[in-house]
Amino acid sequence: MKEKGEKNMHILFTSGEAYPFSKSGGLADVAAALPKALHQLGHDVAIITPYYQDVKNHHAQMNYLGHAEIVMGDHHKVANYYTLTHNGVPYVFVENDEFYDRKRYYGYDDDAMRFTFFNFAIFEYIKLTENYPDIIHANDWQTALVPFFLDVKYRPLNPEFKRIKTLLSIHNLEKQGSYPLETEKLFNTKNFTYIHLDRVNFLKCGIMRANAINTVSDNYRHEILTRFYGFTLDGALKSRQADLYGILNGLDQDLYDPSKSKNIYQTYNEQTLLIGKKINKRELIKELNLDSRPNLPLVSFIHRFARQKGIDILMPILEDYLKEKKFLFVVIGYGDALYEQFFSEMQRKYPDLVYYDNTFNNELSQKVYAASDLFMLPSLFEPCGLNQMIAMKYGALPIVRETGGLKDTVTAYNKFTGVGVGFAFKNYDATEFKETIDQALELYHQDPDAFNDLKRQAMHVNHSLTKMAKQYDELYHKILNNQD
Ligand code: GLC
Repeated sequence: MKEKGEKNMHILFTSGEAYPFSKSGGLADVAAALPKALHQLGHDVAIITPYYQDVKNHHAQMNYLGHAEIVMGDHHKVANYYTLTHNGVPYVFVENDEFYDRKRYYGYDDDAMRFTFFNFAIFEYIKLTENYPDIIHANDWQTALVPFFLDVKYRPLNPEFKRIKTLLSIHNLEKQGSYPLETEKLFNTKNFTYIHLDRVNFLKCGIMRANAINTVSDNYRHEILTRFYGFTLDGALKSRQADLYGILNGLDQDLYDPSKSKNIYQTYNEQTLLIGKKINKRELIKELNLDSRPNLPLVSFIHRFARQKGIDILMPILEDYLKEKKFLFVVIGYGDALYEQFFSEMQRKYPDLVYYDNTFNNELSQKVYAASDLFMLPSLFEPCGLNQMIAMKYGALPIVRETGGLKDTVTAYNKFTGVGVGFAFKNYDATEFKETIDQALELYHQDPDAFNDLKRQAMHVNHSLTKMAKQYDELYHKILNNQD
């Protein structure tokens, strides 16, 4: 048995996406940042992730490790393993062109098979390399079958597999990997733990079987035990409540630092923030051809376009602000067509006030964070949220709904004490959202000193990777020391 601090651990981090090789959302950022920070703490950590089309650009840097045959019912498929090292951490890519040589990562008819394959391939990689981890860290539905396959197929094979423990992190409870019952044929064995509402549910399987489970903020950990936030899995989560933890995501300070960023017009820090942001705003307005009248606040919205992000309560109120020329509005993102159309329409109608970029342009988004006075994230639900943390680092004040990780990261402005790093409202309601925007705009115009103090306080907040990694370290130890 290992005592805390006695030995560094060997962790295999499994993820459906990992920055900078693949990214569709915040999971990719955490999948890069957490292993990097664990490595810096001295742990032996590797990441395993699918070899998508996007990954091919990096092929020249990779070494071939070998292959394995994966059997899923009547299907026999081959997994090829490639590796490279990034930030000191080995990345292992599982290649099968039939499954992963595609533009998008998820959302195909054969996702159930593509990710059943990936979960098996994780174990076949361990078998091939005989590189047995202490912990396999699974993330979201894409790798939630790991605890199940470990139990039914691999633990019985040898004592090395037998001692492996698992942690499942939930970054998104809405996406569960729910498929028709016949999917179970791919598992080569039957079991009830993956059944949910008469379907096979990958995430539920992981929740029932992992040694421990966590979400990415403490507040969200409590919310998901309720019916509204539980997305039908609140019962399963309640049954595992004693093993359910909340660990707030950290932000990679090396990637988001306005005093070093090469992408912005003018670097700045807490001391030089006023002049720095002024220059960034002036230059961005010029570059994007926006209205350059003095003192128009710049508000930004940089997100995946999903229902989660609260665009439904922005849509009924945004145009009133634009009609009255209350602020400049810069949007970066793509996703649900309904939302894309809405922002395109706003840009068409108010070209001097609205700029909409429907890609995920990292360079432009850093410029926009640096130029912004305010940043919106009125989420319906939010496990953690990373972009509000980035906004704060760049001295842009978030306007958020008090939910999930937004509640844990954004202290709302208190007009009596002057303390705060943003603005917040409680209910998912357009009127409440509007009142909060009005409050922010009023402070911007009526009390610029107080507004600038908030910007400084926002920049000062440090959700470091080390802090996050230490909490995972502690949780891994707890799991390893638990004998059942
Ligand atoms: C998902 C969640 C987001 C979280 C991220 C990383 O994208 O929606 O709230 O920050 O995962 O954990």
